[in-house]
Amino acid sequence: MKYTTISKNVAEIKTDALLIFAFENENWRVLPLPAKIKNYICTAAVDPKDFTGKEAEFLIIPVQKQFPNLNRIVLVGLGKEDKYSTTVLRNVCGKTVRLLKNYPVKAVSLLVRKKLTGKYNLSRLGQTIVEGFKLGGYQFDTYKTKEDQNKKSELRKIEMVTGSAKEITGIRKGVKTGEIVSAAVILARDLANQPGNVATPQMLAKSAKSMAEKAGLACEILSEKKMQSLNMNALLAVAKGSSQPPALIVLEHKGAKKREAPIVFVGKGVTFDSGGISLKPGKCMDEMKFDMSGGATVIGIMQAVAQLKLNKNVIGIVPAVENLPDGKAAKPGDIVKSMSGTTIEILNTDAEGRMILADALTFAEKYKPAAVINLATLTGAVVVALGHVAAGIMGNDDELVDGIKKYAEISGEKVWQFPLYDEYKEQIKSDVADIKNIARNGAGVTTAGAFLSKFTEKYKWAHIDIAGVAWTNNAIPIAPKGATGFGVRLLLEWLTDK
Ligand code: BES
Ligand code: ZN
Ligand code: ZN
Repeated sequence: MKYTTISKNVAEIKTDALLIFAFENENWRVLPLPAKIKNYICTAAVDPKDFTGKEAEFLIIPVQKQFPNLNRIVLVGLGKEDKYSTTVLRNVCGKTVRLLKNYPVKAVSLLVRKKLTGKYNLSRLGQTIVEGFKLGGYQFDTYKTKEDQNKKSELRKIEMVTGSAKEITGIRKGVKTGEIVSAAVILARDLANQPGNVATPQMLAKSAKSMAEKAGLACEILSEKKMQSLNMNALLAVAKGSSQPPALIVLEHKGAKKREAPIVFVGKGVTFDSGGISLKPGKCMDEMKFDMSGGATVIGIMQAVAQLKLNKNVIGIVPAVENLPDGKAAKPGDIVKSMSGTTIEILNTDAEGRMILADALTFAEKYKPAAVINLATLTGAVVVALGHVAAGIMGNDDELVDGIKKYAEISGEKVWQFPLYDEYKEQIKSDVADIKNIARNGAGVTTAGAFLSKFTEKYKWAHIDIAGVAWTNNAIPIAPKGATGFGVRLLLEWLTDK
């Protein structure tokens, strides 16, 4: 898809579809359009109710004969002006690209009206439009062998037309950012959507490595042997039930002076979670191919960090394993000594995410990080609490957690904070080891958080439980059914604004 930004008179536009965004109950007579077009729209929409401007309401007006340069005019509703936000615009653009799939539209021109900027700047406007179009048009069809089962968009060119040449630079800057950010989300979705037989720990490591080579990041893959030598026994206890060898992926962006403490992202990379010996029920078990979504998000973030050339040191760590039952698998009751020295009683092999994160979070200590943020599809309990609307966030540093929460609005990726009270830490004390990997008295989200907190005492840390938002069973405006790439945009906003 090609995005261009130009300044020209509406009358000079030549396109398959001229997109005109309008707010609810806006007076069309004041739209910045040539009188001829305006009059035509007013007669084509016979009744005012044909188009009222409600959010994501569309009116497609064919115009070929009257205006030889235009094939159609599309009125696009933005909803109430006082509710307007980047999320509204991104969602509406996402729905627009899906609607246009049904028409032979290869190029669109989008009228950049002053009002579209809202309370934001031009760069943000350009970025949001690109995010909406790119993410809304996303499809994972790698394994479809027949055409047209899932109609593909023919859209190849999006032209943003401003009335003033002065606005071009700002919009173009945002378009560039939007392209990089969306590509990172798409990489995360592509990895997470891969089935478990393809996205094995080694394949994830290979993908990260090839991304790193292209983007200019350092990449190191720690083998099973290396992990044994580091005493990563919590991680290895999960991996040993599978014939797929585990991998610890480490990506490094050196954008600042060496002595500057890095930000470290850690993502759960369970390429398939059967539950292990504590086997999950069969219903919907296939969804556990998404259990590496946290890792996919971290890989996506790292690609964008490199492409945006951020002047910060940033590290991405993805512990990648497969959780299967086997004669060699860990069993309930087993006790392992984690890399940190803390002993863990495994009471449920399905609570494997916290096991692999325990060692990955200990491994992160060596970077003397300014902050560590981990993302994980960690608990079914967070889905009970927040559904598929928001991720759970918690941590040991309020400033860090509040800092991330601030970017939920602009990114549209919602996070809701849970408390990490000391009582939850009490609940994971074991009778026979230092801690156990499940607690029995409810509070599934925070007892998982409390478990992780035992391994993050040496730095500022936030944990984002994305179990409810990492994939969607129904299409949302900016994603079809499947992986969403949740967290890439939220954390890139936080990181770039820091
Ligand atoms: N990967 C799951 C969590 C999950 C559940 C993600 C539903 C997405 C949707 C995790 O490894 C898990 O199985 N957690 C258990 C923990 C329990 C045994 C304490 C859970 O939440 O049931
Ligand atoms: Zn599990
Ligand atoms: Zn899991």
